[in-house]
Amino acid sequence: MPTSTYPDVMDKLVSLCKRRGYIFQSSEIYGGAGSVWDYGPLGVELKKNLKDRWWHAMVRAREDIEGLDAAILMHPRVWEASGHVAGFVDPLVDCRTCKGRFRADKLEDARCPQKPSKHPGEAEQCQLTEARQFNLMFKTFMGPVEETAATVYLRPETAQGIYVNFLNVQQSTRQKVPFGIAQIGKAFRNEITPGNFIFRTREFEQMEMQFFVEPGTDMEWFEYWKAERMAWHQRLGLAPERLEYHQHTAGELAHYARAAFDIQFDFGGTLGFQEIEGVHNRGDFDLTQHQQYSGKKLEYYNQVENRRYVPYVVETSVGADRVTLAALVNGYREESVPGEEEGRVVLGLHPSIAPVKAAVFALTKKEGMPEMARKLATELRADFPVDYDETGSIGKRYRRQDEVGTPFCITVDGDSVADGTVTVRDRDTLKQDRIAATAVRAYLADRLNG
Ligand code: GAP
Repeated sequence: MPTSTYPDVMDKLVSLCKRRGYIFQSSEIYGGAGSVWDYGPLGVELKKNLKDRWWHAMVRAREDIEGLDAAILMHPRVWEASGHVAGFVDPLVDCRTCKGRFRADKLEDARCPQKPSKHPGEAEQCQLTEARQFNLMFKTFMGPVEETAATVYLRPETAQGIYVNFLNVQQSTRQKVPFGIAQIGKAFRNEITPGNFIFRTREFEQMEMQFFVEPGTDMEWFEYWKAERMAWHQRLGLAPERLEYHQHTAGELAHYARAAFDIQFDFGGTLGFQEIEGVHNRGDFDLTQHQQYSGKKLEYYNQVENRRYVPYVVETSVGADRVTLAALVNGYREESVPGEEEGRVVLGLHPSIAPVKAAVFALTKKEGMPEMARKLATELRADFPVDYDETGSIGKRYRRQDEVGTPFCITVDGDSVADGTVTVRDRDTLKQDRIAATAVRAYLADRLNG
């Protein structure tokens, strides 16, 4: 089992996320739905900020990538062409004694529910069945009458929506190869062993980009995207020493891949380094398969050279929920505060993804302080998500904001009302600046960009 030098903070995070409104178990009042999670008021902002950063870096800031939002339900033949109907399977074993279900190829990662010190199959009472192949796609029916309706699938990846729209996007935008198509959307996998909070769930969001290139240039682009994507995670504030590449060996490569690297993040504890993103050289596998199954040509026409060909694809595929978890784990810390008995819990999120950018406090509820503080909060809300708080000691209010990752706390005190200045406290350095209330907007804008 992988063991990290970083502590396991998962249980503490699960509790913080529920208590402070980041993430709740789905359908909790009914006892919860298996490995499905709901994002609360702060969680939805955090994940949205992450997705916005990805969209900006991958679509808006580039002239060679176009956006797309394809439907979750697709023609069932798509999944035959992609190889998912035949091959998107995990080997499953049941235990006749405890009724547990396990991945046959990951028994060493699982625990016997009746004897947790053993792996399934190792305890005397275990009775494992032969392994059988279990398809991970969720099935449903298109049309009103189940028996006559077509079976359709909830997409297990967003990528196929891009391949089937390759020519629609290329011809409508007049992009020339090399160019990419990006999308963010839900994907569904009936995982046998989901778990570790939002790390592996049955419903999740992917941020995928397929880059179409001329055959022969694919390895060059593969290296380019490997480096670009690693740099993106670092700019997000994930500690460089917690990030690494993992190259897929011939045995690990998916059926479509000519080469593949995972970007892994160290989640701490026994989970350790785990994949957060895959960068794949998929060759012409997908477009060729869709040509064959649809009977429609998916070739790019190079007008200058009067030449047609099926482009190769370099894919970058990252889970929005998994990066959200990485950002939470990366940011979580407990520390002592100089001069104070009680320590603090801090979510050191990168300011650009923090759900609340600043909290405005009135030091006391007297002498015009609440009025001035409320006015400032209202003005700032035009540009940033801002919290207002006037209850409890100032120390407690700081702690509440530190724990949810608010980068700046602005306090209006007695002097503020007299001279129009406020203090701005930095979450990480604890440094306080005294500045004019009218300068706060620019102060925050300066520090939140990037
Ligand atoms: N189109 C390629 C593809 O889907 P993948 O490695 O199966 O590749 C890509 O998935 C990313 O999607 C993973 O790196 C992970 O971040 C995320 N992901 C996959 N399965 C997931 C699950 N069950 N729960 C949460 N995220 C998942």
